[in-house]
Amino acid sequence: MLRRLYHDQPETFAFTPDNQKWAEAQMKKFPEGRQASAIIPILWRAQEQEGWLSRAAIEHVAAMLDLAYIRALEVASFYFMFQLQPVGSVAHIQVCGTLSCMICGAEDLIGVCKDKITDKPHELSADGKFSWEEVECLGSCANAPMAQIGKDYYEDLTTERLSEIIDELAAGRVPTPGPQNGRYAAEPLKGLTSLKDHDSGKTQYNASVQLASDIGDTVKRIDGTEVPLLTPWVKTGAPAKPKGKKTADPKPAAKKPADETGVTKQQATAKSMAKPTGKSNPNPDIEKQPETLTAPRDGGADDLKKISGVGPKLEGVLNDLGFWHFDQIAKWTADEIAWVDSRIKFKGRIERDNWMAQAAELAKAK
Ligand code: FES
Repeated sequence: MLRRLYHDQPETFAFTPDNQKWAEAQMKKFPEGRQASAIIPILWRAQEQEGWLSRAAIEHVAAMLDLAYIRALEVASFYFMFQLQPVGSVAHIQVCGTLSCMICGAEDLIGVCKDKITDKPHELSADGKFSWEEVECLGSCANAPMAQIGKDYYEDLTTERLSEIIDELAAGRVPTPGPQNGRYAAEPLKGLTSLKDHDSGKTQYNASVQLASDIGDTVKRIDGTEVPLLTPWVKTGAPAKPKGKKTADPKPAAKKPADETGVTKQQATAKSMAKPTGKSNPNPDIEKQPETLTAPRDGGADDLKKISGVGPKLEGVLNDLGFWHFDQIAKWTADEIAWVDSRIKFKGRIERDNWMAQAAELAKAK
């Protein structure tokens, strides 16, 4: 398929201020002089913001990275994940048409798209809300047939269900992604045959769907307000630093630290992991060390494994960090959670499983 710039192009492109800040932060992940390595995430962010990549957007990103326009266009036109023409304002539906999906009914799903959206792929529906295309295997063959809608997978589809999903999206709702036939993940259709009792820490949906539901941006355009979630190495609330050029000069000055703390979050984490019970606070702007103990109090340690999401291994890590009791965990504030989070190997779990509320309940019940 020929991948060319769309015939009708907007004059200009600009990131939202938050997305601009996010894009500049991506560039800081690479060594001085290697900022071009950030091209894919930054082009992707432009697409997340607008839905597709216009010529102006590609040129904007090239200018940020100090690249010839053609270099950025080569990347944008090479990867099929980049849309070079406008997509539906509500959703772009990518139906997998490779082997497993094809023999399980992908052609019928494409028929639904033709009926409900438009006859041809990469064209907008009459109301501009939807577009569709057939794509190659998306790696979800055990849940064939499937389609990617926005950022998420809708699996085990039938024509009826895809039709309903399109109607729900048109009505402003976002159907829950994942298997649409009641399966939890990719277990056998007739149910589990092994590991039947292995459901400790099981979330409502499988991990991918749970995360997708928690983030909730399946078909949403991204304006950068989720920066604290996705660029934890950037200080929250830090002002943008425009350099006075049309596109902000994103290159960090030579020898300048990656951020104002003088140390990246990753470096700070690596340092702290080497000395888990140390008193240092590697990134004081976003992390604060909670009160810790050197040993359990007289009554003995609480069984931290009673907190859903804490197994024996994690309990050991928490003990090593100086946490032995429910009441200690119940008191953690956001910056203290960040401190603990950067020292355990299951990032995000504390908040996802709400250890603090669980610990408060367990402390009360003691
Ligand atoms: S064949 Fe469709 S996801 Fe692999």
